[in-house]
Amino acid sequence: MLRTLIPLSILAALSTSTLSAPPAKPAYVGAAYAPGARPVSAKALESLGRQLFFDRSLSASGAMSCATCHSPAHAYGPPNGLAVQLGGVDGKQPGTRAVPSLRYLQTVPAFSEHFHDDDGNDSEDAGPTGGFTWDGRADSTHSQASLPLLAANEMANGTPAAVVKKLQASHAADSFRQLFGKDIFSHPDAAFAKAVLALEVFQQNPREFAPYDSKYDAYLRGQTKLSAQEMRGLKAFNDPAKGNCASCHLSARSENGAFPLFSDFGHIAVGAPRNPAIAANRNSHYYDLGLCGPYRTDLKNHPEYCGLFRTPSLRNVATRKTFFHNGVFSDLRQVLRFYAERDTHPEKWYPKGKDGKVAKFDDLPARYHGNVNMEPPFGGKPGAKSAFNEQDINDMLAFLKTLNDGYKPPKPKKI
Ligand code: HEC
Ligand code: HEC
Repeated sequence: MLRTLIPLSILAALSTSTLSAPPAKPAYVGAAYAPGARPVSAKALESLGRQLFFDRSLSASGAMSCATCHSPAHAYGPPNGLAVQLGGVDGKQPGTRAVPSLRYLQTVPAFSEHFHDDDGNDSEDAGPTGGFTWDGRADSTHSQASLPLLAANEMANGTPAAVVKKLQASHAADSFRQLFGKDIFSHPDAAFAKAVLALEVFQQNPREFAPYDSKYDAYLRGQTKLSAQEMRGLKAFNDPAKGNCASCHLSARSENGAFPLFSDFGHIAVGAPRNPAIAANRNSHYYDLGLCGPYRTDLKNHPEYCGLFRTPSLRNVATRKTFFHNGVFSDLRQVLRFYAERDTHPEKWYPKGKDGKVAKFDDLPARYHGNVNMEPPFGGKPGAKSAFNEQDINDMLAFLKTLNDGYKPPKPKKI
């Protein structure tokens, strides 16, 4: 069930990334047109978006910007090992999900329940795929940006009008008037829409959000070699009888030559253990069921989707300190051991239930356990040999580190 996505935009991202620094073209962004207003260049929107991304004054607490959770020094992922971040008016309200990296999201397909590859001849239904956030409920980074600006446990502004009031008092106010007209702030809805548009355009910047400059990218370009251990790790990662990781976390270039994103963006239940560190989980009736709720509400009558979360990209994953949608793991080695032993040694990963038996898939009500993926590396019998061993784990860890951005390939030797 390999799903290769080759939208045109990925090719654009590629062509800019294979060259050194792309000159910012004065492109015009259609959505920025408003009747009677001048077209606004993508470059101007981008620099406005950058300003907003780092502006703490846009939060109710005055202490939190997008960058507080999506740290540029951590591949725009969380800056610490907390499973979930704190936010809200007082900066003390806990989140319920781990912060994803904002890199390599430019070509995430729109959410679809029945995803079909449009490039190949196989029109197999790959199931629910795409969309932004862990449950795919936001259809663009554009609509996504409004979620944290408003959410009570994040930037906590409550309403778009409250955000616009802060914008009007912020350092960005002058740029706003310059770009969108003197009276932009008397149209709060339009002003809010411009703010999220600017944030979206900023997140398209290839140098910051899709640099394609990991060791693995350099290897694909023929600029460097992988070590023997990294090569073994790549093999185990791809091997359908070992990690089988690449069946979801695509590792090969697409038919069009686009570099892999290490995700097919499919929604899958892996049965991650419940995380007691999440405050909401103190209520034993609370479950984060991903596609079927509670944040996403349009699919709540689809029990077959309960427990499914979007497959994350593994680029820069070795820089993270918290893993899975609920941040239940804090060490990448643990994640790999979980994949190996979830079914062969469940007692290592789940607590015991009241009946003294291992409470497998304890973050999912029993009626949804059938949704959990059982394909390799999963599906082994209890006590049986795992699909891969500790040596494979060491090798895969070495390989996963080659997916970190910021690698400098060796200079070609002078003759
Ligand atoms: C309090 C921490 C926090 C702040 C502040 C925050 N985010 Fe996020 N962000 C998250 C979490 C948690 C998720 C995952 C949400 C979910 O799955 O429901 C997320 C998801 C996202 C996504 C979707 C990523 C994906 O993989 O689909 C984007 C895009 C994003 N945030 C952009 C922003 C922008 C832009 C801002 C500022 C306006 C911002 N975030 C502020 C925590 C935060
Ligand atoms: C059947 C599809 C599938 C396969 C096979 C698979 N994964 Fe995943 N992977 C996922 C999904 C879905 C998630 C998110 C699950 C969640 O958060 O509940 C995930 C999450 C992860 C994460 C956490 C990333 C983060 O940002 O939190 C890592 C690391 C990871 N996978 C590595 C691997 C490795 C290594 C293998 C092979 C041993 C593998 N995966 C096999 C679908 C898959």
